[in-house]
Amino acid sequence: MPLTAGLRKFSLTVHVSASVGWLGAVAAFLALAVTGVTSEDTQTVRAVSIALEPLTRWVIVPLALASLLSGVVQALGTPWGLFRHYWVVIKLLLTLIATAVLLLTVGSIRSLARRATEQPEISVDMQGMISSLVLHSGGGLLVLLVITVLSVYKPVGKIRVR
Ligand code: HEM
Repeated sequence: MPLTAGLRKFSLTVHVSASVGWLGAVAAFLALAVTGVTSEDTQTVRAVSIALEPLTRWVIVPLALASLLSGVVQALGTPWGLFRHYWVVIKLLLTLIATAVLLLTVGSIRSLARRATEQPEISVDMQGMISSLVLHSGGGLLVLLVITVLSVYKPVGKIRVR
């Protein structure tokens, strides 16, 4: 269903705010996780481990879901369509993958925060968890940057329908 000009601007504002906000929040997550990996101070590592949980639960996950949903609305409500242009389909796939990996990581972020709250010391496997979160958020940030570049450049290429 085509969006009216006013609604299209409104939903594009929602889409860009959610999507680029997601990217910024993942950058903040990465900065905290790198601090957790590099710091030798137990209290700092515990504080970082606890802070990652609300950042993920209240900011990153809602923004990711809002970006995906508003992106689909934007595609279906405009002449771009969901399966008409390669850049839109690639964005959809990359966003789905990034969201799935994010949702699969939430469990270990929760367990890290719980352990940092309950245990006074940082165990080796907690350090391993934080290192893995550095890799996941670093990779996620790269994927989100690729999606942003695709969104702005919108490389030509239509999907042929026989
Ligand atoms: C992290 C994920 C995403 C990011 C960072 C992102 C970013 C952006 C940005 C910055 C724009 C504005 C481009 C411009 O107006 O020049 C845009 C537009 C658009 N996005 Fe996304 N997007 C994401 C996910 C998605 C998804 C999942 C879809 C749907 C499959 C989608 C579909 C669209 C469409 C169709 C437009 C053009 C809207 C219009 O012209 O009204 N996006 N996106």
